[in-house]
Amino acid sequence: MPDDFERMWGDLAPVGRSASSGGYFRQPFASAERELAQWFVEQCAARGLRVETDEIGNAVGWWDVGSGPAVLTGSHLDSVLDGGAYDGPLGVVSALAAIDLMRARGVVPTRPVGVSVFVEEEGSRFGLACLGSRLASGALSWEAARELRDRDGVALGDVVPGAASSLLSSVGTFVELHVEQGRDLVDRGAAIGVASEIWPHGRYRFDFAGAANHAGTTRMEDRQDPMLTYAMTALAANKQARLAGQRATFGRVAVTPNGTNAVPSAVTAWLDARCSTDAGLAELVDAIGRQGSERADRDGTSLTVTAESVSGAVTFDPALAAAVAADHEGGAWPIIPTQAGHDAGILSAAGIPTAMLFVRNPTGVSHSPAEHAEVADCLVGVSALADTLDRLTR
Ligand code: GLV
Ligand code: MN
Ligand code: MN
Ligand code: MN
Repeated sequence: MPDDFERMWGDLAPVGRSASSGGYFRQPFASAERELAQWFVEQCAARGLRVETDEIGNAVGWWDVGSGPAVLTGSHLDSVLDGGAYDGPLGVVSALAAIDLMRARGVVPTRPVGVSVFVEEEGSRFGLACLGSRLASGALSWEAARELRDRDGVALGDVVPGAASSLLSSVGTFVELHVEQGRDLVDRGAAIGVASEIWPHGRYRFDFAGAANHAGTTRMEDRQDPMLTYAMTALAANKQARLAGQRATFGRVAVTPNGTNAVPSAVTAWLDARCSTDAGLAELVDAIGRQGSERADRDGTSLTVTAESVSGAVTFDPALAAAVAADHEGGAWPIIPTQAGHDAGILSAAGIPTAMLFVRNPTGVSHSPAEHAEVADCLVGVSALADTLDRLTR
């Protein structure tokens, strides 16, 4: 089993990896991610798993055993821009390795087991995270999704044929294994943990408009500089979130016309905000928008805030979480909240009992090439996943 895991891990290591940063560029529906999708089909074929795909590229490899509601496990193969190796692929490789382990142990499930890959989990191309699982679960309609555009203006509807999906119709339970994206498990000295909840989070577009002008001849007091308003808003967002123990990040900015010797005419920046409660998230974004608008008044610029997507609080099935955590021989694994979004959150919100397993990340870093997990911890995760699948399919 360790061999299966390490062989698969070795297969994936070079795909979409940047020689300069060591990070991964696995954009949905582009070459590296499609190569991984093909790799997944081959891995399923090698195990006799029947592959079912839908019209937006989600895939499930079915172990057709037994009958009744299926147990699904898996994650995603796309990455953020310059992401780490583990966010997503660890859950897919671990799911396949868990099936290998169950078979090696002679386990014969009484109900079907599926390994899932959902597309565009990161929203790094079309801007909406968990796109594949939102469409598959019915949380998002194809009519709303088809016009989503990437940075080159290409519409989702031009890339994939449609969104008919019945992949989840037989699913009774979902379990996603994922690399931990913070330092909780390191601090607790635990190889793995179980998720209790996902913080509410959202993406908001901040459009700052000003007036383009000459960088040399325009007196400082005569400017209407949207970059200045943006910078002050970013500072306010950081302070607001820090004081309240919440999260606010401007990680993407587009400047028009983006020339060194011109005051910009416009700045668009995307705020990623996260908070432990839905009400707190709304207050946080309101407060940042209010401070941005006040600053815009002083700068002679304007600010328009548009919520692009908001995901409400998710509480995972507590009994299922407790059962997954209790599988540990030496006592229960920690049950911890996460501030990261996952397909598991979408499926849970759609009413499917869902659990998540996290594997310790010694760097605590994620969405970066520095993301890491030790093989020994990954194998603890695979074993716990196999135990969980076994118990759920007895
Ligand atoms: C997805 O990984 C997110 O939480 O942004
Ligand atoms: Mn991610
Ligand atoms: Mn992920
Ligand atoms: Mn995620």
